[in-house]
Amino acid sequence: MFLDNLKQLLTADMAAVDQVIRTRLHSEVLLVNQVSEYIINSGGKRLRPALVVLAADAFAYQGTQHHNLAAVVEFIHTATLLHDDVVDESALRRGRATASALFGNAASVLVGDFLYSRAFQMMVEVGDMRVLDTMAEATNIIAEGEVLQLLNCHDADVDVTNYMRVIHCKTAKLFEAAMRLGAILGKASAADEAAAAKYGIHLGTAFQLIDDVLDYSADEQQTGKHLGDDLAEGKPTLPLIYAMQHGSATQAAVVRNAIEQGDVTKFSEVLNIIRTTGALEFTRQQALQEADLACAALAALPGTQHKQCLFDLAQFAATRQY
Ligand code: IPE
Ligand code: IPE
Ligand code: MG
Ligand code: MG
Repeated sequence: MFLDNLKQLLTADMAAVDQVIRTRLHSEVLLVNQVSEYIINSGGKRLRPALVVLAADAFAYQGTQHHNLAAVVEFIHTATLLHDDVVDESALRRGRATASALFGNAASVLVGDFLYSRAFQMMVEVGDMRVLDTMAEATNIIAEGEVLQLLNCHDADVDVTNYMRVIHCKTAKLFEAAMRLGAILGKASAADEAAAAKYGIHLGTAFQLIDDVLDYSADEQQTGKHLGDDLAEGKPTLPLIYAMQHGSATQAAVVRNAIEQGDVTKFSEVLNIIRTTGALEFTRQQALQEADLACAALAALPGTQHKQCLFDLAQFAATRQY
């Protein structure tokens, strides 16, 4: 429902963003077009490009570069998904076979690289060092986050601080960057830009917390992703960390083992433990707290355009089912 409203509110802008995406996807190399069009045509919520547009509007930006930068952010997001599905060995994305399942790991990684570098070409065209600086840092931190997560796989001793660091890097950073780009275009004051960035960080953190809940509890039809991918990779996400801390010794041992072995055959047993310890509820609560922090950052901004929509987006991130 919220997403429908958002789409309606931003119809013209998102159509313009879509146009940029289609034009700039093009390559002389057929396989690049095949893989990139395959994943882009599968859809996706387009939340990050919407954030760029919302932030630019919030600061009364009047030009058209926000459409280009929104496309840039979606390209970078898409590149991370192409890479992520290789690393996570995921088979389903956006309700379809992943690009890696269909075209292979090599093609997915290389086309991901194409999208990353195309995004940087497009940023250079904008001609603003602050834009480049923001995205160079964000992409670098995302890469670090993914590597940090790789190190954490199959490690049942990863603590909450470590987990939060991973999601801050791999997910929240891009939401922050999307907000910052809009603020930069709109020539926001340093304080307002910082508030916008803070909103993005907390929003992105809430978003990933719920993603980690959904990996245990979603309707696959709604998310278009397989349940249990995180357990299969032995990812110590917050629902598992909490379940180990609050379950009985026997329950904690089951979860620990499943993480260490990446044992997805234990999915229903682990799920049961997650449910009885209230781990999903706890993770959802943490997401709501992040959404509150996002809203508090937003409240510091002057009465900007679409402000209510940004409040609603924080609520959506923390309560979504898909
Ligand atoms: C998936 O992001 C990757 C995460 C950071 C959890 P989205 O859930 O925004 O993916 P799409 O673009 O809507 O498919
Ligand atoms: C998000 O983490 C990874 C990226 C930032 C690309 P996940 O691995 O949980 O994302 P999904 O669940 O595959 O979309
Ligand atoms: Mg993944
Ligand atoms: Mg996930």
